[in-house]
Amino acid sequence: MTEATPRKAPFVVEWRDGFKINVPQVDSEHQHLFALVKQLDVTTVDSTLDELLEYVVTHFSNEQQLMEDSGYPDFPAHLKLHEEFSATVADFLSASDTWDDERIQDLRRFLNKWLIGHIMTHDLRFGNWHREHHGAHAPEPVKARKKVGWFDRLLGRG
Ligand SMILES: [Fe+2]
Repeated sequence: MTEATPRKAPFVVEWRDGFKINVPQVDSEHQHLFALVKQLDVTTVDSTLDELLEYVVTHFSNEQQLMEDSGYPDFPAHLKLHEEFSATVADFLSASDTWDDERIQDLRRFLNKWLIGHIMTHDLRFGNWHREHHGAHAPEPVKARKKVGWFDRLLGRG
């Protein structure tokens, strides 16, 4: 009898204060994203993934609105980064309908690495720019908007 392959320890990155860009709404949304990525598990993937993708779209549109409202000059380039990320995730998801531990870990690893790289470079640049140009005043929080399915919103149909 062959032994089953042992489950690899899940790839986990916890949110830490060092990820803050000092825009409170963005920081708390980022923190929630890390929590949702951590929840991804092969037994509950469908519901968690729906919630995560829905939240990614909400977060991106809120962050973009804050950038636009504050006159951030790098907003168009930043929007492009969000679009590229969405396209990569859509490609990954359309490659297969089935999940196993390995595919979950691949997704978690990709999401965590992308989030950290993006936050610590591009979002942080916005946080610093905002502090320089608008003083210590945080941007006004973006209010909730009507709910549109994440896939439609991802494709700009929202
Ligand atoms: Fe961003």
